[in-house]
Amino acid sequence: MNLLKTLPFTSSQSQAPIQLISTSWSERSRVLEKGVNLYCWKREVNHDISEYLEQCLKHELPNISFFAQEEDLASKLQENRTGWDHHHGVSGDPFWEDVYHLTKDFLGLSPNRSGTVFLKVIDNNACTKFHTDGDSLRMFVTYYGKGTEWLPEKAVNRKGLGKRNQLIVKDPTQIQRLESFDVGILKGQVPGSNAKGIVHRSPEIKSAGEKRIILRVDI
Ligand SMILES: [Fe+2]
Repeated sequence: MNLLKTLPFTSSQSQAPIQLISTSWSERSRVLEKGVNLYCWKREVNHDISEYLEQCLKHELPNISFFAQEEDLASKLQENRTGWDHHHGVSGDPFWEDVYHLTKDFLGLSPNRSGTVFLKVIDNNACTKFHTDGDSLRMFVTYYGKGTEWLPEKAVNRKGLGKRNQLIVKDPTQIQRLESFDVGILKGQVPGSNAKGIVHRSPEIKSAGEKRIILRVDI
């Protein structure tokens, strides 16, 4: 595995969940390990995809959301692509193929190989309070704009969750970010499970009038 970082892991924090940051996608199933709550595949920006999305943003892009199983994922993506890209121009193929391959791989982590897919433009601050998700696993990719921020365990005060960010973040200098095109698999905080979900938030973009295009898949 081409691990860049594993945060944090010391004997005194043996119960603390770790985050795997890798240049490889092939070991994504390690997010299923008990002590891991984030797998981040760091990868290069694809400029063809960025240019295509710039073009798409010149029009109103409807939110896309649908439930899919591995077998019908390709056809459902094709159907929904029409709302963003009326003519299915070839310049869009790299984006839609990337969405397809990532989602298909991610659904492979689910016992029933199915999940809910969301593609949308975000132009507000969404969830800027640090929190954990209620889904067992969520894949998140910011294709355009600023990526999700997350906290290594040593920087989190879990007792502060639900309160102000100042009470949640022990050390703001430790805030990490999923960059554009990075693929994050985030483990949530599911009732009845002992797993400590990854603490994260959406970046603030509204004041600067920025936009984001994100892919989210929940299983
Ligand atoms: Fe979230």
